[in-house]
Amino acid sequence: MRILTSGESHGPAVVAIVDSVPSGMPLTAADVDRDLARRQAGYGRGGRMKIEKDSARFLSGVRNGLTIGSPVTLYIENRDHANWESAMSPEPGPAVEMQTKPRPGHGDLAGMLKYSTGDARNILERASARETAARVAAGAVARCLLKEIGVAVRSRVMSVGSASDERRGDLTEADFVRADADAMRCLDAEVSAAMMREIDEAAEQGDTLGGIFEVAVFGAPPGLGSHAQADRRLDAALCAALTSIPGVKGAEVGDGFSLGRARGSRAHDEIFYDERLLLHRKTNHAGGIEAGMSNGETVILRAAMKPIPTLGKPLATVDVADMSAAKAFKERADVCAVPAASVVGEAVVAFAVASAAQEKFGGDSLREMRRNVDGYLDQISSWWRPRGDA
Ligand SMILES: Cc1cc2nc3c(=O)[nH]c(=O)nc-3n(C[C@H](O)[C@H](O)[C@H](O)COP(=O)(O)O)c2cc1C
Repeated sequence: MRILTSGESHGPAVVAIVDSVPSGMPLTAADVDRDLARRQAGYGRGGRMKIEKDSARFLSGVRNGLTIGSPVTLYIENRDHANWESAMSPEPGPAVEMQTKPRPGHGDLAGMLKYSTGDARNILERASARETAARVAAGAVARCLLKEIGVAVRSRVMSVGSASDERRGDLTEADFVRADADAMRCLDAEVSAAMMREIDEAAEQGDTLGGIFEVAVFGAPPGLGSHAQADRRLDAALCAALTSIPGVKGAEVGDGFSLGRARGSRAHDEIFYDERLLLHRKTNHAGGIEAGMSNGETVILRAAMKPIPTLGKPLATVDVADMSAAKAFKERADVCAVPAASVVGEAVVAFAVASAAQEKFGGDSLREMRRNVDGYLDQISSWWRPRGDA
């Protein structure tokens, strides 16, 4: 599956085109809107999310609740555009205010240099995380495909600022589902409260926060991705997907960075066999991926998001209009968007896993893909069995 998105933050809409979705797959706007609403939630968001109430409209690829094999185009209106019609008009018109004081940590300055513009708005409109609404919509399509082959993608927030839920490794899908009920998407109520306190403090001081979230893929069969070529490795694709989220600066698979400090005897997941579970592991330090291939255990990924670059108390910059020292410009912004980023994380991971599943199982129709999945599971059935059936 391939995806292209377009649309500026304050333009009329953001759009996603998803190519190579198999035909015959159940898909409705409600499937997409559920995830769009989850992306909009979370404590610490700014005023923009009060204006938007995201909802997807299919412009192509779906008929009567089923995909038809043509590109699926999803259109999400930007309600805030009504306040920006003249500033964002594609037609030439009266001069508009230019943003000449680039924010440290945002794409403003690098983009102004690269695209040869004195107005940071030409850059920030597209660098803005508004684009992630389109990717969440595309991720919802991928999620529907994965559901059909027994795979689910979940997330939770592990830390914000210094408040941290260190529990790892032994969480079930049902545990992850609980994250949806918490304003921080955190599984520990006390830690969640501490996160919100930190956000309040940061907001009072005109500051911002980042954090760490986890994404888990349940039910992935062994053999997604491949060791055979660098660009087919599943771990590489998933880390690329996570670091493509604005603000995400680090990604790890399984125990990731801490494996760099462990001994081999503690780092690897020994292999066992019994008649009930067949081949299985008792630990999952590898996060369900070995040599770029899913190994049949739960896929575990973590991502670190830096603090939001638009600060209430702006940082030092240079006004490029006259190269004088200045404070960076302010725009309505989130204080912390880690809960939203974790939902985006689910979407990009779902998309990458669905793409890997399509590479392995092919199929122009869902029926054909399912037949290929079933045939493969039958072929390995004396070695590996889906965990839900154990
Ligand atoms: C869901 C989400 C919401 C975000 N909200 C804001 C925001 O309100 N203001 C802001 O300056 N950055 C926000 N960011 C982060 C910026 O988009 C990001 O830092 C910027 O594009 C620069 O890219 P980089 O951090 O990957 O270098 C958000 C990111 C995500 C994922």
